[in-house]
Amino acid sequence: MTTRQAQAIQVHGLEKSYGGLRVLRGVDFTVARGGIFALLGSNGAGKTTVVKILSTLLKPDAGTARVNGFDVAAQAADVRESISLTGQFAAVDEILSGRENLVLVARLRHLGNPGEVADDLLERFSLTDAAARRVSTYSGGMRRRLDIAMSLIGDPPVIFLDEPTTGLDPQARIEVWQVVKELAAQGTTVLLTTQYLDEAEQLADRIAILHEGRIIVNGTLSELKRLLPPAEIEYVEKQPTLEDVFLALVGADGKDRNAGTNA
Ligand SMILES: Nc1ncnc2c1ncn2[C@@H]1O[C@H](COP(=O)(O)OP(=O)(O)OP(=O)(O)O)[C@@H](O)[C@H]1O
Ligand SMILES: [Mg+2]
Repeated sequence: MTTRQAQAIQVHGLEKSYGGLRVLRGVDFTVARGGIFALLGSNGAGKTTVVKILSTLLKPDAGTARVNGFDVAAQAADVRESISLTGQFAAVDEILSGRENLVLVARLRHLGNPGEVADDLLERFSLTDAAARRVSTYSGGMRRRLDIAMSLIGDPPVIFLDEPTTGLDPQARIEVWQVVKELAAQGTTVLLTTQYLDEAEQLADRIAILHEGRIIVNGTLSELKRLLPPAEIEYVEKQPTLEDVFLALVGADGKDRNAGTNA
């Protein structure tokens, strides 16, 4: 677990300022291969800045980062070969169909069988029924799933998901979570950023909180929970959460929402 090779991402002493604004003030963390690591933080905490540095889009002022064993500064091309980035805002083409978007990316990556790659991903992301429709007719959840599917073309060992479920309804969020869990189960390393505590709770095997330029806590969910004093035990009926109620009323079966003709 602690050998260098077991770590897919290693970050040491990252610093980054924008003008006089010191956003990262010495960020350190590691992510194990095949792990799901959630970087939590409020708006403006610097989550996207960390992701941009790790995906070579931005240079840090100080510190080092290695992704899949490669240094982000000295071996940027190798890092880019090893990763995919699904940004905070979806990068799908609205005018093309879902399948056309996937085929386009597969061609850009010089894969020999773009149609086959596209069809496999459409199936895996429950988008087969909507494959031929223009993306402009997709729901937010469908777009987000297509966006993640596009980023998986070429099987990168490390994926970055910047706020993968912001703006999605509870059902679409659960669909995205399912996809992320499957990726990690297949050995892909996932670093995701989120503002949602429940998302980190559901998905991540390690959670780090970025606050005022540093990682203030980093651990498993149970380690984080142990940081708080034990709650007093009270005997109360468990009330359903708002999410339970929402899902019970609208139905938790995600398949119908993808059908081409349903209103
Ligand atoms: N290119 C830039 N120029 C100047 N300031 C920037 C730039 N990019 C980010 N910032 C500032 O740096 C801080 C961190 O931004 P960043 O986007 O990394 O935060 P974040 O944690 O991803 O926030 P959010 O949750 O809103 O996505 C913010 O105060 C932001 O305004
Ligand atoms: Mg951000």
